[in-house]
Amino acid sequence: MTDFYQLASERHSCRTYEEKTVEKEKILKCLEAARMAPSGCNSQPWRFVVVTNPETLQKLSKLTQLCGVNRFTEHAPVLITVCEEEEPRLLPKIQEMFGSHVYAHGDLGISTADLTLEAANQGLGCCIIGVYDEDKVKELLDIPKGQKLRMMIALGYPKEQKMPRKIRKPMEEIARFVE
Ligand SMILES: Cc1cc2nc3c(=O)[nH]c(=O)nc-3n(C[C@H](O)[C@H](O)[C@H](O)COP(=O)(O)O)c2cc1C
Repeated sequence: MTDFYQLASERHSCRTYEEKTVEKEKILKCLEAARMAPSGCNSQPWRFVVVTNPETLQKLSKLTQLCGVNRFTEHAPVLITVCEEEEPRLLPKIQEMFGSHVYAHGDLGISTADLTLEAANQGLGCCIIGVYDEDKVKELLDIPKGQKLRMMIALGYPKEQKMPRKIRKPMEEIARFVE
């Protein structure tokens, strides 16, 4: 088994990709990792759309380039949308008391994180994208109106060799032990 800490610490956002097709089996393996993620009441509220068709990729990448950001998506051989199901199914009591969306956000985050870690595990590079024109993306990909587009993921073989240095808050700032 891969050293998990090493995988988690080496994963980084990749914004330059080789002009190389990503094998469908590899994409499926990433999606499998996402599918195995935990979720509130096992509701599994995530829905993915995978785009590899060059024409659709071109249109889709443009929709992530609001205000001049995310130009790199133009060269990503795979773009994936991560949507939240309209009404995630929780246990009725939990739904009544807390509302399903409270959990769904976290669920999608966990699932997406697992997808990106499996990508890193397979030597692929990816970058989560949070900037996009939601309505136009949903229209282009025929995503049901009730679903909420929460994230996108660019995926491909990384072009860069050097790993960027991790900039993270110090441990003392983010965690503490209570005796
Ligand atoms: C919810 C979310 C949205 C993000 N949106 C973008 C984005 O639109 N464009 C981009 O280049 N990076 C985006 N990122 C990547 C972050 O900038 C990156 O994860 C962060 O700087 C830490 O760097 P690392 O992933 O290399 O460790 C996003 C990450 C997350 C988790």
